[in-house]
Amino acid sequence: MALRLGDIAPDFTADTTEGLIRFHEWLGNSWGVLFSHPADYTPVCTTELGTLAKLKAEFAGRNVQVAAISVDPIEAHRGWVGDINETQCTSVNFPIIADPERKVAMLYDMIHPNADDKFTVRSVFIIGPDKKVKLMITYPASTGRNFVELLRVLDSLQLTAKYRVATPADWKDGDDCIITPAVKDDEAVTLFPKGIRKVKPYLRYTPQPNR
Ligand code: BEZ
Repeated sequence: MALRLGDIAPDFTADTTEGLIRFHEWLGNSWGVLFSHPADYTPVCTTELGTLAKLKAEFAGRNVQVAAISVDPIEAHRGWVGDINETQCTSVNFPIIADPERKVAMLYDMIHPNADDKFTVRSVFIIGPDKKVKLMITYPASTGRNFVELLRVLDSLQLTAKYRVATPADWKDGDDCIITPAVKDDEAVTLFPKGIRKVKPYLRYTPQPNR
């Protein structure tokens, strides 16, 4: 059955450009982001992995481990890393998983036969420290991912894991948050001492609790 939000992210052992990893053990207590790629030596993927390398510190600062995967073999990954470093002026600093037998691809439902029956689609999975899947997005092969958006979602996920808030459309770190409907008005006064702006009984804002 296809993977769904809230499911435990499947564990696996795989060869990567940084050696063998046991996925859950490698994640430890961190958050994780797994990026699938249609293939090595492709232009959009090359720019994506270069961007990810440059943003690695942003992910690490949020306690997030990142890894990429494609169904190409490890030798292809190693050669491609050289091209990424050269063309994107960076140094790939995260593991790229080799999945030539498509074991991980099948576990994560990364092969969409009506799009392409051989290669993994361009998907991204955010995994929480509880190993549960928190986000899944699948992009068309022709569209590179927005990494700033993924950092924004991580900020929202990490905030809402700690406080009883949700984040509105286009929210970014520092903006006002929405008090979740399960919180009663009298409880909200205690929980959110920075103040409450009540627009409707179900639409209540508060300044970001941890800022
Ligand atoms: C790319 O990453 O550039 C790409 C991969 C598959 C199809 C089209 C583009």
